[in-house]
Amino acid sequence: MVKTITGNMTLAETVTEVPKAGNILREMHIDFVNGGDQKLSDAAFEQGIPLENVLYEINGLDMENTDGIDIKYMDEMSIIKYIQRRYHEDLKDELPVLTPYVEKMADQDESLSEVWEIFKSLKKSMTEHSEEEDVNVFPLLESYIDNPSDSKREALKPRVEKIRNEHRDVTGFFHRLREITNDFTPYAGATGILRLVYDRLERLERDTLDHIHLENNILFQRVGLRAS
Ligand SMILES: [Fe+2]
Ligand SMILES: [Fe+2]
Repeated sequence: MVKTITGNMTLAETVTEVPKAGNILREMHIDFVNGGDQKLSDAAFEQGIPLENVLYEINGLDMENTDGIDIKYMDEMSIIKYIQRRYHEDLKDELPVLTPYVEKMADQDESLSEVWEIFKSLKKSMTEHSEEEDVNVFPLLESYIDNPSDSKREALKPRVEKIRNEHRDVTGFFHRLREITNDFTPYAGATGILRLVYDRLERLERDTLDHIHLENNILFQRVGLRAS
């Protein structure tokens, strides 16, 4: 059934219902991953964007996510497996491949040295963060889902809180990248390397925000580990 998005819905509900809405909110600089509880109407107001424009764009999208699957109908265990396969594995491939291109771009254009510095920080934090999820947080979460207990829940709480804070840091890095790259728009006469890097960084931003949305707004929410 097609559900119409309204201004009264939260950002998390909006992107859960219409996953591609994440692309529109991202470009409008609306933070749907850390601020998922905010109402769509309030977020639009804060950015000075007329709500009807936002609703018109979102309601014109198809409902599928980019992989053609619907998370709403997946159980928590399957969501964890999906996150690991679709996002954690992809990061392991993409980050090392992208690194020499970002470095070369910064060598060619000194004004972009901050992009290189941010990329190195991003790479380090995303790598360590995903590993922490794979090795510690997700196994504990799986055990809790499988057989819930108060002690497991208490053990999970500070870990999930830390994960949420790291999500905020990563989102902040992308926010800054957007600022200094003019929303990943290559300037006139930019080299092929710069074009490639901007394109891949924007794709990395899209995947990362979709990834964090799944964890913050769907997975942790479903198991009752809400943001405190
Ligand atoms: Fe993750
Ligand atoms: Fe994460």
